[in-house]
Amino acid sequence: MLRKRFFAWFLRKGDGVNHKIYGRIKTKLFQGIFGKVLEIGPGTGVNFEYLPSEIEWIGIEPNELFWKDLNEKAEIKGIESEIVKGEGSMIPIPNETIDFVLVTLVLCSVYDPVQMISEIKRILKPNGKLIFIEHVAAEKGTNLRFFQELFNPIERLMADGCNCNRETWKLLENAGFQSVEISHRKINGLIPFVSPHIVGFAIK
Ligand SMILES: C[S@@+](CC[C@H](N)C(=O)[O-])C[C@H]1O[C@@H](n2cnc3c(N)ncnc32)[C@H](O)[C@@H]1O
Repeated sequence: MLRKRFFAWFLRKGDGVNHKIYGRIKTKLFQGIFGKVLEIGPGTGVNFEYLPSEIEWIGIEPNELFWKDLNEKAEIKGIESEIVKGEGSMIPIPNETIDFVLVTLVLCSVYDPVQMISEIKRILKPNGKLIFIEHVAAEKGTNLRFFQELFNPIERLMADGCNCNRETWKLLENAGFQSVEISHRKINGLIPFVSPHIVGFAIK
């Protein structure tokens, strides 16, 4: 519980930096979002700022310490919102009912990302879209990858189970989506271990 409290405090402190680092990417990537939107692991609710107010937002956030932040930010933005109890590997939502799923910096932390992606596919409507921003492993054989492997146990401890060495793009490419668009980017302003990112979307 102490770790969860520390992480909640840490994430809240980082909201401003988060907007500076990811704001422009999100403004572009979240364009065209409509309908029923499920956000998995929304944390403090940093993504509300980039979402249209007409959507119906559902959040799955296992850390209940964030629920107050989420409710407040949804209200400020005028977004109809509901927080559902659960977690990303077992989403308590019926098949093919969601227009968009949003995950930002979450697949690095979940215990079973393959299962979570499979759940996302299950609940998305046909042609529904998964939008993601994730920090990932650096290319194999690079110095950065070597240090990511070395640093990962500390990262997991400090950042609520977050892994800096996941090849998440492979999981998305192999999940059986109709199409997947992935852009590999180095994001400046972060510690090097978490600078390699993937940004993109997958269509069911
Ligand atoms: C690094 S934070 C990212 C928060 C936010 N999405 C952002 O972009 O700042 C990871 C979030 O994923 C949540 N999380 C961790 N494991 C999860 C799981 N199995 N299912 C759903 N959310 C999870 C954490 O509680 C936390 O809010």
